[in-house]
Amino acid sequence: MKTILITGGAGFIGSHVVRLFVSKYPDYKIVNLDKLTYAGNLANLKDIEKAKNYEFVKGDIVDADFIQKLFVEKQFDGVIHLAAESHVDRSISNPMEFIFTNIVGTVNLLNAARHIWSDNFEDKRFYHISTDEVYGSLGETGLFTETTAYDPHSPYSASKASSDHLVRAYLDTFKLPTIISNCSNNYGGFQFPEKLVPLFIHNIQNNKPLPVYGKGENIRDWLYVEDHANAIDLIFHKGVIGETYNIGGNNEWTNIDLIKVLCKKMDKKLGRETGTSEKLITYVKDRAGHDLRYAIDSSKLQKELGWEPSLQFEEGIEKTIDWYVANQDWLDNVASGDYLKYYDNQYSEDRF
Ligand code: NAD
Ligand code: TYD
Repeated sequence: MKTILITGGAGFIGSHVVRLFVSKYPDYKIVNLDKLTYAGNLANLKDIEKAKNYEFVKGDIVDADFIQKLFVEKQFDGVIHLAAESHVDRSISNPMEFIFTNIVGTVNLLNAARHIWSDNFEDKRFYHISTDEVYGSLGETGLFTETTAYDPHSPYSASKASSDHLVRAYLDTFKLPTIISNCSNNYGGFQFPEKLVPLFIHNIQNNKPLPVYGKGENIRDWLYVEDHANAIDLIFHKGVIGETYNIGGNNEWTNIDLIKVLCKKMDKKLGRETGTSEKLITYVKDRAGHDLRYAIDSSKLQKELGWEPSLQFEEGIEKTIDWYVANQDWLDNVASGDYLKYYDNQYSEDRF
């Protein structure tokens, strides 16, 4: 039985990856290591929390001693590293958390993997999940490929770029068997409502303003989160050590067009007159250093490993809206911070 560490498994993408691996690979023991920051939520994994091949460990990847001990105790065969501070706006107001978690945390994991695997790297792999934001911003044309030069602009993307460089440095210097993938913007269920799609769905439901940064002309390439999880599964098993794979939806939207789609679909879903939600659109001050356009060329992954997104955007966004409407409690809880109180209580020092 292989033991696989998934970091950040209580977050948005991580919870989809954990669910996929726990259900698809009964002969793997999946250990989900997560600090449960504001973005981590065990309610995301309720359906699989009692599975025999699943274990949750609460811990901080920034704590080097703890990480070393965990690797020695569990003897992981593979690592899929998703834990990160992930929100650009938070990186602008508080960059240091991003430096600690995204850079120092990643190096702690690399060191611990190197330590337990020492010179025997056979069948081992350290898979680092990254973002297309490391490539910077595109003009009106062109796509990011795996050889596009790094040019990050936010503390978030700079910290992810730094972690990618360190992962490659451990491959080159210590022959640690690493793989990296860089993905475009994800959407789907269980996303913390600070990111565009769930925030706007929540605000539409509650008749709150929809804060559009600048003119809403920035472009993102949107991928359904389960398609990202499937790509991660494929790359973890079939990807070539030392390689980088870009993952994207081939699905570019200006923010304002995407927001108008959300408004129309939500009006229909909530039985409101068409145009009601669009009235909530409020143009606000632009994000500092706001990248204009991201768009991914994922042809390498498609040609070499046979990956295809399973959903068209129309279907994916319908499923996503349905999910948030059906899981109103989840959204309200997360938005109200109730679940943070729950964790304070659940994991308080004096309970152990
Ligand atoms: P998220 O913010 O929803 O989840 C991050 C998880 O990491 C949370 O569960 C959090 O508790 C955990 N975490 C944070 N700091 C930690 C620490 N110090 N120790 C242990 N756990 C910690 O993020 P997400 O959107 O699911 O992104 C996951 C990964 O995918 C990140 O590495 C991100 O850079 C990358 N990514 C995200 C997107 C996207 O659109 N969301 C796109 C491409 C790549
Ligand atoms: P976001 O979901 O934060 O992802 P990222 O910044 O990593 O791409 O934002 C997606 C786009 O939506 C981005 O161009 C910023 C914009 N945006 C708004 O206009 N208003 C908002 O309230 C948020 C959160 C984002």
